Amino acid sequence: RVQALIYEFQHRCALPLHLLRKISEAMTHEMTAGLSTESGSRMPMLPTFVEKMPTGNEKGVYYAVDLGGTNFRVLRVLLGGREKRVMKQEFEEVAIPHPLMVGTSAELYDFIAKKLTDFVSRESSEFSTHAAAGARELGLTFSFPISQHSINSGLLIMWTKGFKIADGVGQDVVQALQQAMNRQHGPKLRVAALVNDTVGTMAGGRYFDPDVMIGIILGTGTNACYFERADNVHKLQNGKPLPKTGSMVYNMEWGAFWSSHIPTTHVDEQLDAESINPGQQLYEKMIGGMYLGDIVRRMLLKLAREASLFSGEVPQQLMTPFVLGTPEVSKMHADESIDLRVVAKTLAKIGIHRTYLHTRRAVHDVCDIVALRSARLAAAGITGILRKIGRDGKNGEYTRTVIAMDGGLYEHYAKFRIYIQAALTELLGEEAVKYVVLENFKDGSGIGATLLAACHSQHG
Ligand code: BG6
Ligand code: GLC
Repeated sequence: RVQALIYEFQHRCALPLHLLRKISEAMTHEMTAGLSTESGSRMPMLPTFVEKMPTGNEKGVYYAVDLGGTNFRVLRVLLGGREKRVMKQEFEEVAIPHPLMVGTSAELYDFIAKKLTDFVSRESSEFSTHAAAGARELGLTFSFPISQHSINSGLLIMWTKGFKIADGVGQDVVQALQQAMNRQHGPKLRVAALVNDTVGTMAGGRYFDPDVMIGIILGTGTNACYFERADNVHKLQNGKPLPKTGSMVYNMEWGAFWSSHIPTTHVDEQLDAESINPGQQLYEKMIGGMYLGDIVRRMLLKLAREASLFSGEVPQQLMTPFVLGTPEVSKMHADESIDLRVVAKTLAKIGIHRTYLHTRRAVHDVCDIVALRSARLAAAGITGILRKIGRDGKNGEYTRTVIAMDGGLYEHYAKFRIYIQAALTELLGEEAVKYVVLENFKDGSGIGATLLAACHSQHG
């Protein structure tokens, strides 16, 4: 019975090549639709007002704040221009306290402002002797959908991932932070660039590799950005036409993507219905690290209830949402021991002791199915973007294209990376895939934000 249910789950999650192609084509199609009219697609395709990337010549002292993944980070860098590059950097990182994710926006911004104020006031002379007079400049990485008016202003459209702060939606993020900074009576700071984490990652990547064309986050949430030519964009932004020449980075918010070709199961429907944002971010809910562990948990609970996976008992622990995280899934999935002892240990950690080998095999299989589907869906999305920018090799031209990757899921889940690469090879073909490089720029978005602050500096 356990086997039968697992086969059924596997069958329902399967993404054979013909389906992957359809999903990839749907991604390209939705990108075009989202650029045509403001509500052309579920994906908002947001202009970022980032029209230039770092050149390597940036100089001076810049700060960044990075909010929206698992951790909150503040950092400062000393940029030394073409020869010296990043001469010195310092950062502080803390896990985002959960109450802040569901409290009030004043609490959240006060927290950021306090950390930032403390951090800036500890600036050593190594930095301050190189800083321009006046306010320190800052790149603010705020990894949620934002309707931007300019490079350093924009209204929060909605929260995603585990955040739900009712009074934050519709607020100008930069103004809200500025007001919180004023409440702290802290040092003078100016937000020079407000960026999504995908955009920060892309800028950080481009600083080291000129072939970076796309930024992708596979972490708690998932998203992508890329350079789009102005003449491909027909929609208005906040009622105004966008520039008609040049190109601009677009934050796709691909977590909101959907296609009827994506295979769903009862478990996905339940997860969505019980989430804090039902009906939203459906692609993200099948890919992002915030959700993979919970998909596995829900499937194990189903197997316990309907097929006595745990010898007739239904472990209470499995009824707790998010008790299994993606790091645990990744660990269990990586277990290659004959007796699956890492699986046993991980289950024991959440309170499920003394499991049979066949139970542990079933758990391992479920992890595999869920991670494989996630990786293949992400690969379909990636080839959708490559097609849109003419870099999928289908026109017979092969140009090296680097995708700047970041996020805990991509960084820490080895099998997931292997699955993405394999799906990309299937989709693009052996030849074209050689020109597509996925490169992990760890914490690239922090440096990227400081670089974008430097590119948009008022210090000249
Ligand atoms: C970090 C970036 O490395 O990765 C953040 O600095 C980004 O900007 C984060 O949001 C995403 O990863 P995770 O796994 O923390 O969601
Ligand atoms: C969510 C956010 C998006 C962010 C992504 C990765 O999808 O809406 O802005 O880029 O998570 O952190």
